[in-house]
Amino acid sequence: MGRRYALFRMTYRLVALAALLSLAGCDNGMEGPLRPDAGYDAATGYDGAAPPGLDGSRPPPPPGGTTYYEHVRPILSENCVMCHRPMGVAPFALETYEQAFDVGDRMVDMTSARIMPPFLADNSGACQTFSNHRGLTDEEIATIATWVDEGKQEGDPTIPAPDPRVLPSLGSVDITLEMPETYDIMTSIQDDYRCFVVETGTTADTFVTGYEVHPGNPQRVHHVIVYNPESDAAANQARNLDAAEGAPGDGYACFGGPRVGASPMVLWAPGAGATLFPRGTGVPLAAGRAQVVQVHYNNMIDVDATSDRTTIDLITSPTASTAYIVPLAHTGIVLPPRMESVSQSMTQDLSELPIPVRVHGMFPHMHTLGRQLRVDLSGSSDQCLIDIQRWDFNWQLAYWFTRPIRVMPGDAATITCTYNTMERDDTVRWGDGTQDEMCLNYFYVTL
Ligand code: HEC
Repeated sequence: MGRRYALFRMTYRLVALAALLSLAGCDNGMEGPLRPDAGYDAATGYDGAAPPGLDGSRPPPPPGGTTYYEHVRPILSENCVMCHRPMGVAPFALETYEQAFDVGDRMVDMTSARIMPPFLADNSGACQTFSNHRGLTDEEIATIATWVDEGKQEGDPTIPAPDPRVLPSLGSVDITLEMPETYDIMTSIQDDYRCFVVETGTTADTFVTGYEVHPGNPQRVHHVIVYNPESDAAANQARNLDAAEGAPGDGYACFGGPRVGASPMVLWAPGAGATLFPRGTGVPLAAGRAQVVQVHYNNMIDVDATSDRTTIDLITSPTASTAYIVPLAHTGIVLPPRMESVSQSMTQDLSELPIPVRVHGMFPHMHTLGRQLRVDLSGSSDQCLIDIQRWDFNWQLAYWFTRPIRVMPGDAATITCTYNTMERDDTVRWGDGTQDEMCLNYFYVTL
């Protein structure tokens, strides 16, 4: 009991620290190749070039060659169309031969650089493996490249279409968090980060054990994070921020996190489907505690719909093994400007942890200058916990270990973050503004 309490206290200290520091949201979307203005029409996905063959000029496929229907469609159907479909989250569909033909070269670039499908952490086994990993095998990447090299042959359209992969969904729903009002997205700015205060309507304490986000405007909603306030006072602060800005229920601007003491509970990016927390575990949700829903709207996209009312379904359980969302934050970062690469590390002694804990998942976070992030454990076992070689602020993902990792008393954890500050004229420090940076990882931990 006493030991449990001690961990509780430490966790609370850390959570309070995180609250001060607060976790940030999404991207400024300023650069990067992943933009719908690069050679194709966002609405149709076509850049105007006709696939060969439609005008009768297509050469016959080489015997035994790689064709769309036989080799490429199954890969796209399994790994891409859940996002690349009409009205999907990606700016163009990849459901037909013509669509795949049209972006063939870009597909080769994106898949061979492992930018698509999006998953940032190394999953090779050199630094853990993750149960929610997505990615193509080397062979699949080579198949797409060969198909393009050989002239993007169509092949036999009578080959039956594979069933496209369906995203997991929740079997049942216990609580639905709904934005209080339909929100008119500020489309005049490239990226609108908004925090909405959402009442849960609960009258008893419970545990959240899983979630599914339903974006009200699937094309503009780029990211959703639900922050669970650490106290009723923190929830009230969020209500006050909402009241102070715009119409009631319209939320408040929040690039860098909820601006009140809270830790992330739901992390959602497009194409995620439902998430279940590790079996038997859950995040405590206090009775009547309002939640802060942070939504990143991406306005680089040319669609008519400019309003949103996103909902988040939660499943709960009255009992669960309590999950603590514990931050490891390097708040002392000082990043000189005009540096192509600057790395900073911080080691935290975990000796206060009174008993072994299990780490189930990781929620890494930096802002837009971030390039790499790595967390290492030392002590009872020296191991890498997460290694992100190509950070992308657009994809704030949770990473769930294939097998939970044991952390023992006396262990230490080191976080190392690497940035590119070439575009800045001033020193960059920790903070939750668009000009600030973070070096942060949350652990999803149970006793
Ligand atoms: C989880 C959702 C998701 C999955 C899965 C996914 N994509 Fe994407 N893809 C996107 C989004 C979103 C964009 C637009 C980028 C942005 O908004 O920053 C994109 C952009 C692209 C682009 C355009 C990049 C450019 O700059 O021209 C290509 C090509 C692409 N994806 C190919 C693929 C392929 C091939 C697969 C499967 C192997 C795939 N994607 C899987 C969401 C996804």
